Amino acid sequence: MCGIIGIVSKNEVVNRLIDGLARLEYRGYDSAGIATINSSEIVYSKSTGKLVSLKNKIKENPIDGHVGIGHTRWATHGEPIEINAHPHVTKNVAVVHNGIIENFAEFKDELLEKGIIFNSQTDTEVIARLIEEKISKEKCGPLEAVRLTIEKLRGSFALCFIFKGFEDLIVVTRRGSPLALGFGDRENFVSSDALSLSIFSKKICYLEEGDLATLTSDEVKIYDSFGNSVFRDTQILYTDPINLSKGQYKHFMEKEIFEQPEVISQVLGYYLDAFEGTLSLPSLPQSTEIKRIILVGCGTAFYSCLAAKYWFEGLSGIPTHAELASEFRYRSPVICKGDLLIFVSQSGETADTIGALRFAKKYTKNILSVVNVEQSSIARESNWVFPTKAGPEIGVASTKAFICQLIVLKILNIKFASDLSKISAKHRSNLLNGLLELPRLYAEILSQNENIKQLCKKFIGSNSVLYLGRDVLYPIALEGALKLKEISYLHAEGYASGELKHGPIALIDKSMPLVALNPWSKVFEKTLSNLEEVKARRGKIILFTDKKGRELSKDLTKSIFQLPSCSEFLTPILYSLPLQLIAYYTALDKGTDVDQPRNLAKSVTVE
Ligand code: M6R
Repeated sequence: MCGIIGIVSKNEVVNRLIDGLARLEYRGYDSAGIATINSSEIVYSKSTGKLVSLKNKIKENPIDGHVGIGHTRWATHGEPIEINAHPHVTKNVAVVHNGIIENFAEFKDELLEKGIIFNSQTDTEVIARLIEEKISKEKCGPLEAVRLTIEKLRGSFALCFIFKGFEDLIVVTRRGSPLALGFGDRENFVSSDALSLSIFSKKICYLEEGDLATLTSDEVKIYDSFGNSVFRDTQILYTDPINLSKGQYKHFMEKEIFEQPEVISQVLGYYLDAFEGTLSLPSLPQSTEIKRIILVGCGTAFYSCLAAKYWFEGLSGIPTHAELASEFRYRSPVICKGDLLIFVSQSGETADTIGALRFAKKYTKNILSVVNVEQSSIARESNWVFPTKAGPEIGVASTKAFICQLIVLKILNIKFASDLSKISAKHRSNLLNGLLELPRLYAEILSQNENIKQLCKKFIGSNSVLYLGRDVLYPIALEGALKLKEISYLHAEGYASGELKHGPIALIDKSMPLVALNPWSKVFEKTLSNLEEVKARRGKIILFTDKKGRELSKDLTKSIFQLPSCSEFLTPILYSLPLQLIAYYTALDKGTDVDQPRNLAKSVTVE
């Protein structure tokens, strides 16, 4: 899973390749590389670590050219060391790859038997070696060599190639992984993601499954998987290029947490008319025809699906399932007439979620997506799209995008409940007004960030943290634990409060911090009893609650953070915020790489 870029131009491309890679680094950041053609020869530079290492290396040993390809890597086959970094280069070809070649081992064995020496442990080098054979032994031209080679490959790929002796040519192809082309003035571009192209060109098109294309500085030719010359619709990108500035903040994650009051207003403004108290929604299926909802996502997006399950069943009375995308498509799920499938994703490029969506499309047209990146594959392949309008999220740990997912799902919930007459007009208007309170409540909690920072001191010296929540705060406990793990590398687990006694309670001792979410609600007393059980075993409880909850919990713990009182309907959205801050401050304390934590990538484009 990686980001790839290519530029063919009448001008120098290296600095622009690096600028493009900076916008693709969210797809992987364990190594990077660039190759160009100079005086007909392939020249390249690669480096492990972040893009900045490659940038420095190129500053010391410049390379240049009018055609080039670049790559930022998230290791799949082979450790993140320099020999495994892309581009993979042979005598006649250089290639960058996003995806996984599932049958690479059989070709590698054949090539090894023929005496070919491999320099890396990657699946991608096999592609370069196969193409090299086509060019040097079978005398194929670049396009033919690529076409004949990809015919044999199984798996997913987006590939860009440049060739020795061809100073004005890039060949690209895709299957499973996305590729967008950008059209410029006497130059053309290709990238894993259209947004990264927006700094170069506003006119773009997406390659379709199996497409092959040749790019020169003056012309782009596209062929379908049968070799027919085809035309793909171009579109104009209206989005601003991704803003890579952190402003006054130390990290993107911090910025993204603190801008949430504004971002929430933005998403609410998109869907609600505050004066009229009305919803203005994109088209969507008739609520009365929905017999069941299946929500699908991964990681944080899955937790928003899980929260929505509670909401859709609780308020709209629609039977609802929340599914992990990576499990869904492989367990033969039953999809019936009347099912509405909702795919939730920040990036819209998560391979597991795309796979699940394509699987579902074989059975139904009722595909709705809740995505942040509106030009993404998931958005393009859905029949209805509800954008989350969070703006670009750069920090790998999702914060504002998660909150916007919850808000959009909540709005859908209100819409279904109201259409199905499960709530009165007054109730509906109260719920909508409640949502409009969120920016103020968020700002109020953020102003107490120093108190939350202090609570993180409870984690010092601990190897593990438990998060507890009941009912709709259970998914929020799961999300809080995920956030902590991702960026502070501290082990954390989320549990439904009632589950503690069924096993995890064995972990509790005086060194175990436990973060509990327990505002006053119908399940308050049940959770309080669970927390008493923790106290009896000398666990260190850090409690997030409201005014009434605080009064009733004063004998439980001294580590209490009081949140503004709000309706139960808003608590999942509100209680997510302090957990984001806890993860952030803990990571800050531990000195980890908050925005690009080890081993992760923002968008996971392999299965
Ligand atoms: O882009 P997506 O929302 O589809 O990504 C899904 C997960 O990979 C993502 O939420 C991941 O768990 C985040 N790093 C969480 O912070």
